[in-house]
Amino acid sequence: MAKRIDISGLSAYYGNHKAIDDISMTVEPRSVTAFIGPSGCGKSTFLRTLNRMHEVTPGGRVEGKVLLDDENLYGKDVDPVAVRRTVGMVFQRPNPFPTMSIFDNVAAGLRLNHSYKKNKLAEVVEKSLRGANLWNEVKDRLNKPGSGLSGGQQQRLCIARAIAVEPQVLLMDEPCSALDPISTLAIEDLIGELKERFTIVIVTHNMQQAARVSDRTAFFNLAAIGQPGKLVEIDDTERIFSNPSVQATEDYISGRFG
Ligand SMILES: Nc1ncnc2c1ncn2[C@@H]1O[C@H](COP(=O)(O)OP(=O)(O)O)[C@@H](O)[C@H]1O
Ligand SMILES: [Mg+2]
Repeated sequence: MAKRIDISGLSAYYGNHKAIDDISMTVEPRSVTAFIGPSGCGKSTFLRTLNRMHEVTPGGRVEGKVLLDDENLYGKDVDPVAVRRTVGMVFQRPNPFPTMSIFDNVAAGLRLNHSYKKNKLAEVVEKSLRGANLWNEVKDRLNKPGSGLSGGQQQRLCIARAIAVEPQVLLMDEPCSALDPISTLAIEDLIGELKERFTIVIVTHNMQQAARVSDRTAFFNLAAIGQPGKLVEIDDTERIFSNPSVQATEDYISGRFG
């Protein structure tokens, strides 16, 4: 079962610099939530607090709570490695393991965490590549390096790798910003399919993309340069793009700043 995310009072720091301040929101299961806002307002930082990756950065520190179906990911006995398996991440630049084959790229996480029999592994790899809409393009060259694929294919390979371990939540940080328009549409279609199985949070600087793929949109902003980023509002995507509650949101989506 997909789980609900409930974030409260979340702040994140780099050393003494507070990057995001006191963010609270909920994310419903099997939905797509888009994070939008000007560069530097903390979207990536906030995303990385949702699978305990922020604290990997030297000086990275988090305050507040992230509940995944009532369990605090920042609880005392919680293993951050297990959290990162449950809450997967896809990055801005496709980052397949360069020396590994297509097959091994998808199998990598499975091999780490399970003692799969060989035929079972092949089954999950195929299922994941199908899930990422990549199977038909790569089924005849599974042993070729993942780095030989096009950018859009590499990004779908990274999505296959992320979903192979069956996460609950998939975080995507500008997953299309390095891709051409056709690959971008392929990823957007894929997001629409994946949300039937996963809860998805996507950072995008592309307003049309947010409007196309997401159910809910969260707008983040900086009160001033040097100040921490804040959540301005979160609402149904349709509403954010037609009749937002806050003037700053209206200004941003209509391109008056940022
Ligand atoms: N590794 C880092 N070390 C120090 N400060 C960082 C680091 N990454 C980001 N920041 C700072 O945190 C703030 C938010 O950045 P970021 O989360 O990348 O914003 P966005 O994704 O919205 O562009 C910015 O002020 C940025 O300079
Ligand atoms: Mg960013």
